[in-house]
Amino acid sequence: MAAVRFIPLFFILFSTLCFSQSDEEALIKLKKSFIGGNLDNWVLGSGACEKKWVGVMCSGDNVTGLHLADMQLTGEVDIQALLQIRGLKAISLINNSFTGDIPDLHKLTNLRAIYLSKNKFSGSIPDNYFDKMGLLKKVWLDDNQFSGRIPDSLCQLPNLMELHLELNQFSGQIPPLIYPAMVRDLNLSKNNLEGEIPESYMQFNATSFEGNPGLCGSILGKECENGDNKSGQKQESASSPSEGIDRSGSGSNSKVLAISIGSVVAVVFLVIIVVLARKRRREDEFSILSKEPFKEEVLPVKVPEAESTTRRKPSESSRRSRSSKKGSSHGGSSGVTDLVMVNEEKGEFGMQDLMKAAAEVLGNGGLGSAYKAVMSNGLAVVVKRMKEMNRLGKEAFDVEMRRLGKLRQPNILTPLAYHFRREEKLIVSEYMPKGSLLYVLHGDRGIIHANLNWPTRLKIIKGIAQGLDFIHTEFATYEVPHGNLKSSNILLTENYDPLLSDFAFQPMANPNLINQGLFAYRSPEYVRSQQISAKSDIYCLGIVILEIITGKFPAQYLNNAKGGIDIVQWVQTSIADNQVEDLIDPEISHGSNSIDQMVKLLRIGAGCTESNPDKRLGMKEVIDKINEVNV
Ligand SMILES: *[C@@H]1O[C@H](CO)[C@@H](O)[C@H](O)[C@H]1NC(C)=O
Ligand SMILES: *[C@@H]1O[C@H](CO)[C@@H](O)[C@H](O)[C@H]1NC(C)=O
Ligand SMILES: *[C@@H]1O[C@H](CO)[C@@H](O)[C@H](O)[C@H]1NC(C)=O
Ligand SMILES: *[C@@H]1O[C@H](CO)[C@@H](O)[C@H](O)[C@H]1NC(C)=O
Ligand SMILES: *[C@@H]1O[C@H](CO)[C@@H](O)[C@H](O)[C@H]1NC(C)=O
Repeated sequence: MAAVRFIPLFFILFSTLCFSQSDEEALIKLKKSFIGGNLDNWVLGSGACEKKWVGVMCSGDNVTGLHLADMQLTGEVDIQALLQIRGLKAISLINNSFTGDIPDLHKLTNLRAIYLSKNKFSGSIPDNYFDKMGLLKKVWLDDNQFSGRIPDSLCQLPNLMELHLELNQFSGQIPPLIYPAMVRDLNLSKNNLEGEIPESYMQFNATSFEGNPGLCGSILGKECENGDNKSGQKQESASSPSEGIDRSGSGSNSKVLAISIGSVVAVVFLVIIVVLARKRRREDEFSILSKEPFKEEVLPVKVPEAESTTRRKPSESSRRSRSSKKGSSHGGSSGVTDLVMVNEEKGEFGMQDLMKAAAEVLGNGGLGSAYKAVMSNGLAVVVKRMKEMNRLGKEAFDVEMRRLGKLRQPNILTPLAYHFRREEKLIVSEYMPKGSLLYVLHGDRGIIHANLNWPTRLKIIKGIAQGLDFIHTEFATYEVPHGNLKSSNILLTENYDPLLSDFAFQPMANPNLINQGLFAYRSPEYVRSQQISAKSDIYCLGIVILEIITGKFPAQYLNNAKGGIDIVQWVQTSIADNQVEDLIDPEISHGSNSIDQMVKLLRIGAGCTESNPDKRLGMKEVIDKINEVNV
């Protein structure tokens, strides 16, 4: 086995920090790619939103739109710069003099509207260009010199409302519209389109299609001759609209952004980002399995001195950053230094200490990726990079984190520090060398599993229940107090005492992604009828209990339910058939005289995973019942 190599955390996170360049810096970069135009009031530091930069639309301090029409602009459209404007929803370049292929706007997966009318764009548009742009509502490409087929992916956009392609040289047949009911404004006239107009366009009249001599069909009052191609034939292959739109788009974004960083540094980051991107892909394939415990070697890279990256170098002392001053939030770079301590039991540290630490990629989970970092004082921490925790603003997030930082209970892992940025958060906690319960149970059976004898497993279950009970008291007002209880979020101390982590995130997590990221949202009541409650945590507890006693990996942790065992179903069937004993992990049942106690615990697990939350055990009942189980 090759040794795991370390690189400073700084270089892992640097790629992230580059993305945090303010909208303003990004606009300046964009301006540099343009030729002509009058963008004189785009001056760095003047405040793009406050000073109402020409053509810049804002919502509060966020740039949300660029309306750069009628400006005689040419040159390039710097997509890397646009990618840095996280809130960008619409871009208009109407009536300018841009030429060449359509810019790579498809990388901006959050766009709602694209207006490129009245330019000199040309060439064909790749068929899959719009695949990842599922939020697009308005696409205006009219009055250019586009040619080739109309991309299938364009006609498959689920939210498309306005489509203007008139006055171009699009040719071939018109692909069917997959979501015709949404579209209310359509113009395909004055192109070289041919064949029969598909049925899905019935709601429109001839004025949307005129000026295409090769078109036919009832809309135009022109019979299609036998030789005319029936465009409906294409429907079959086109009728599966792009499933699972990648909302984040971050995989490709980060790769692209990395290229803009200078020379040597760029190479380093590319390597890192490729590693991260590869991990991200693994996440897709393995989802939960690739979480935390499955370490992956980080490629050895030559790391230049941190000082060579002066522009981004943290300049304040780490101590000063603790005060989390509000006044320092201008520009993009000030945020780099802010690490806010919420729990000083393990000592104080700052962003600089963290950045210099030797780091190792631990893996990806539902909410983000995790790194281990060992600081010079010897403290090992886990840094979790949370991408889907942007529901709260800075102050409200601070309140939540400080509340978490105050918690003290033997089965709770209290976070140490956090770093806030608009689009992602870092959460720092102590590193537990034994890793997670998931890893210990299913990871490396031969070596670690043997220690998990019956008394240890019982102790772990009792500890988890105590921790959860504490969370239920502490966060009783939350919709779902823990929200994410599963074996990968239960860490084990040196003595195999369980520590719950990643709890009480529900108020912070993005609402639209909550059901992908938080395990409680896989409970039957949520899947069935979007109900969520403290009882959903009990369901998760039940899964963990069954997992520990059976030693089996629950299919419930997987996104696609392929692999693993539907542990709930299995246990219920076995109870009905009176064959409960067969369920118990042979590692603990073999030669044991505590089988009856194990069965008791299995039945408690089954009571926790009752599909109907009203029939499910309550927290106090679970505690009482578990306390009755003996070694
Ligand atoms: C700015 O963007 C952030 C995150 O993208 C969002 O939370 C915040 O509400 C936005 N502010 C305004 C005024 O839209
Ligand atoms: C296009 O922009 C030019 C200035 O760049 C302006 O004079 C002209 O009227 C605009 N055309 C339309 C149709 O708005
Ligand atoms: C055709 O549709 C357009 C708008 O979609 C409408 O303004 C126009 O009146 C319609 N023409 C006829 C002849 O129905
Ligand atoms: C479509 O565009 C053509 C050419 O600009 C125009 O004459 C026609 O009225 C438009 N039709 C609709 C429905 O917008
Ligand atoms: C029918 O489609 C084929 C290829 O798809 C094309 O080569 C041919 O020109 C089309 N014919 C007509 C009449 O549109």
